[in-house]
Amino acid sequence: MSDKFAIETRDLTKTYDGTTVVDHLNFFVRENEVFGLLGPNGAGKTTTILMMLGLTEPASGTVKVFDYNPTREPLQVKRIVGYLPEEVGFYDNLTARENLRFIADLNKIPPAETERRIDNVLEMVGLADARDMITAKYSRGMRQRLGIADVLIKEPKLVILDEPTSGLDPSGINHLLDIICGLPKMGTTVLLSSHQLYQVQRVCHSVGILSKGKLVIEGSIAELGREALAGGRYIIEVETAQPRPELVNTLGKIKGVDKVEIKDNILTISTGADLRSQIAKAVVDSDALLVQMKVHEFSLDDIYMKYFKER
Ligand SMILES: Nc1ncnc2c1ncn2[C@@H]1O[C@H](COP(=O)(O)OP(=O)(O)O)[C@@H](O)[C@H]1O
Ligand SMILES: [Mg+2]
Repeated sequence: MSDKFAIETRDLTKTYDGTTVVDHLNFFVRENEVFGLLGPNGAGKTTTILMMLGLTEPASGTVKVFDYNPTREPLQVKRIVGYLPEEVGFYDNLTARENLRFIADLNKIPPAETERRIDNVLEMVGLADARDMITAKYSRGMRQRLGIADVLIKEPKLVILDEPTSGLDPSGINHLLDIICGLPKMGTTVLLSSHQLYQVQRVCHSVGILSKGKLVIEGSIAELGREALAGGRYIIEVETAQPRPELVNTLGKIKGVDKVEIKDNILTISTGADLRSQIAKAVVDSDALLVQMKVHEFSLDDIYMKYFKER
């Protein structure tokens, strides 16, 4: 990964008939990373992507793709970006190789280069053996992989894949994600949209989660949990036998503790740091028996429950 940005949005906003569907997005995608643009259906993923490609104009705010403005410089953006839309279309009576020749020609790839590139991309997506089969006979998984070959043939600096795993079975998903995983090594940045967090999280270095047009979380997978869900707080859970009411007050006075709640035998303490040893001492000093104590770990399950559960 590098410190250069492939995509940068500033207050990027889109409205349709007075309704805001993309709402002041601020995020960046680093060069050579796989960035997941995640969110449930209708969150605004496709609309955001269309603005990155210059296919629809922002109502306000800006997006930059490798320093180009897609609204003003759509051709420059098209030259360096490969885009796989939600629905890919091929000429079904042509073979994979013939379809790719057609795309190579559209992209003005020199004929002398074309066959080498076709062999190369078909090999990469695991379709070398099916290159001379007409695409009408392709499975959904093969079509999606051919779609990737199709965007890679122009050797783009950035590929934008809109829900590429939808409709695939688990092995098809894994095959596709493995291919995506390998792209940064070749110097290709990836923006991957999906409404299925679990499917794609293993290949993403960073993610942005959209909900109703707003970016609710953004960052590296590693730092998401606590920052996103607890505002940087630690939540320490203590189970005691017969806690006295005074214990709540005592714990509340420890420096760094900002909230203590009690329910049955469980104390839930919100703190600015990992204060387990101070808390344990206070519990024991109050003569309550300490049964167990843990720092609540925020996982992708919490994120999933908060934003992705079926509504
Ligand atoms: N061309 C359009 N005209 C009017 N509303 C649209 C149009 N395209 C998308 N929308 C609305 O914008 C919202 C976001 O849609 P979209 O970007 O397709 O979401 P996603 O790709 O995350 O499923 C939805 O409520 C959708 O109905
Ligand atoms: Mg979409």
